[in-house]
Amino acid sequence: MIEYIVIFLILTTGCESNVFSVTFDPKSIISTTSKQFVGVTLDTGLLRVRWDKLDFRSPKVLTLAKGLSPYSKTYLRLGGTAADFCTFTLSNNTSRNTKKLHPGRLSKDDLLFHLKRNKHKNLTEFFMTGITWDEIHEFVQKAKLDLIFDLNVLKRTKDQKWNSTNAIELLKYTQGRGYTMAGWELGNEPNSFHHLNSSLNVTAESLGGDFFQLSKILNHFPEIKGCILTGPSTTQLNKKPTIKYFSDFMATEGGREVTSPNFHQYYVNGRIATVDDFTNSEVLDSLQDELRTGNRIIEATGRKRKLWLGETSSAYGGGADGLSDAYVAAFMWLDKLGISAKNNVDVVLRQSFYGGKYALLDATTVDPNPDYWLTVLYKRLVGNKVLNVISSPLSGDVRFYAHCSAEGFPQGSVTVYGMNLLSKGVNVTFPQFEGQLKIYLLSAPNQNLKSRFVNLNGITLEMTSDTSLPELTPRSGPNLLFLPPFSYVFIVADNKIYSKSCLDT
Ligand SMILES: *[C@@H]1O[C@H](CO)[C@@H](O)[C@H](O)[C@H]1NC(C)=O
Ligand SMILES: *[C@@H]1O[C@H](CO)[C@@H](O)[C@H](O)[C@H]1NC(C)=O
Ligand SMILES: *[C@@H]1O[C@H](CO)[C@@H](O)[C@H](O)[C@H]1NC(C)=O
Ligand SMILES: *[C@@H]1O[C@H](CO)[C@@H](O)[C@H](O)[C@H]1NC(C)=O
Ligand SMILES: *[C@@H]1O[C@H](CO)[C@@H](O)[C@H](O)[C@H]1NC(C)=O
Ligand SMILES: *[C@@H]1O[C@H](CO)[C@@H](O)[C@H](O)[C@H]1NC(C)=O
Ligand SMILES: *[C@@H]1O[C@H](CO)[C@@H](O)[C@H](O)[C@H]1NC(C)=O
Repeated sequence: MIEYIVIFLILTTGCESNVFSVTFDPKSIISTTSKQFVGVTLDTGLLRVRWDKLDFRSPKVLTLAKGLSPYSKTYLRLGGTAADFCTFTLSNNTSRNTKKLHPGRLSKDDLLFHLKRNKHKNLTEFFMTGITWDEIHEFVQKAKLDLIFDLNVLKRTKDQKWNSTNAIELLKYTQGRGYTMAGWELGNEPNSFHHLNSSLNVTAESLGGDFFQLSKILNHFPEIKGCILTGPSTTQLNKKPTIKYFSDFMATEGGREVTSPNFHQYYVNGRIATVDDFTNSEVLDSLQDELRTGNRIIEATGRKRKLWLGETSSAYGGGADGLSDAYVAAFMWLDKLGISAKNNVDVVLRQSFYGGKYALLDATTVDPNPDYWLTVLYKRLVGNKVLNVISSPLSGDVRFYAHCSAEGFPQGSVTVYGMNLLSKGVNVTFPQFEGQLKIYLLSAPNQNLKSRFVNLNGITLEMTSDTSLPELTPRSGPNLLFLPPFSYVFIVADNKIYSKSCLDT
């Protein structure tokens, strides 16, 4: 089912003031996402640098990771370009079993050991040891994360088929250690391998065969199999050759084994993006067409599969410095979640938890960026059933989404979230809501859209302890709300049953 993004807003013109009226249809659920709708990624490239400053043993990192899972576990996808250059190895691990490696504190030996790259490109093979795999699993278990691992599809035989030998070694090791997995992925952006090296080319048909092979192999490892097989992990569906690649792959034998068809999506180029791009409603709308295309292709296969955004963020190329890591990144992130949920996307994997300017955590201090807090609020407040927002007329700059509230609220509660992309404040009313509502209004400190911080109801959010997140406290307010310029808001109406469709049956 393809849902058009239609947010109707009633514009009532009073003497001086405009009031946007937001209403929703309480009777029907227009789509249901996974309970693990919002996931995160780490780039396999981090293995080359021993996770950089992300110390898995740091209490702060653990607190921040756990903060993402108030109810259900959070997917962690470990993948990316480097996945197709990564070899699992069991050698050289005995001497290291006793030595605790401290990420961020890299000895020359560690570097030589983990790193085999040439001077000009990082596109050379490197190793992931059993110990590193142990570290990852120790972390995901403690942090309530659910691991999806991207296997190396560039291990190929002479006749251009996937050589699964190394993947089987990893599976055997994983089984031997008793680890569980959420799922697997094979390759990263295979439609654009030739951009990495002009002699690389894995066709959609060939990739289909590789996925078929992988799905058969996974059946031999029922204990660790995980239920997810995701692919083809193409670049975004806005160019004909990419759409054709995605579509051709989905039609193959292997494509039919995929449980979660996915593509990657970024709005803009990080090197040239401006603050205006980040608040431009047309830029936000561009995702709509790509989701529609993906859904159409999946529907054509006749299989009941739901689309994933397998790797997605604001700006490609590592993010836009000073924007992807700033307050203003919220509009792309929140709107992406809204549009995706409404368009039947099952899971959205945010690039990244750590690493790059688009990360939820700062590259150097590992403190939360503004989008971290947005993500935590979304997970705490927004449930996985989507309601249809119906009001009018259409306005691209004031946009709202409605869901049943998250599990922590009484059944029948509704959470509405949205944003004001205008440089002037607007009044918004929610005529279906009564009494006092829980309001989480997010705004930029000193109206600085490039701030590295975000205010919740006027108070700047910061980590004050390594072992717990600060309180994220709503204020009470009526159903008429002033939304300042460039602000966004979550409103929880939990004081009566607002939607019978939100009652669990
Ligand atoms: C919002 O509503 C308040 C109170 O009703 C009014 O004073 C104000 O002018 C309105 N602002 C806008 C931008 O419409
Ligand atoms: C590496 O560790 C694994 C598991 O502890 C073990 O099975 C394997 O034999 C070790 N490899 C070497 C070369 O010591
Ligand atoms: C293991 O260590 C030896 C000696 O340091 C080195 O020559 C070899 O390349 C290493 N093997 C792998 C797979 O990293
Ligand atoms: C290779 O990777 C390292 C570590 O991530 C990075 O510092 C370096 O800039 C990269 N080199 C190139 C040419 O991308
Ligand atoms: C697959 O890779 C392994 C090394 O991991 C190698 O020994 C084997 O010969 C390869 N098989 C084919 C068919 O290329
Ligand atoms: C490109 O791939 C070919 C074949 O795999 C390899 O020989 C060559 O070294 C690669 N070039 C670069 C720049 O990595
Ligand atoms: C990859 O291979 C396919 C089929 O052999 C061919 O049609 C396509 O042009 C190739 N792409 C590149 C970039 O070489």
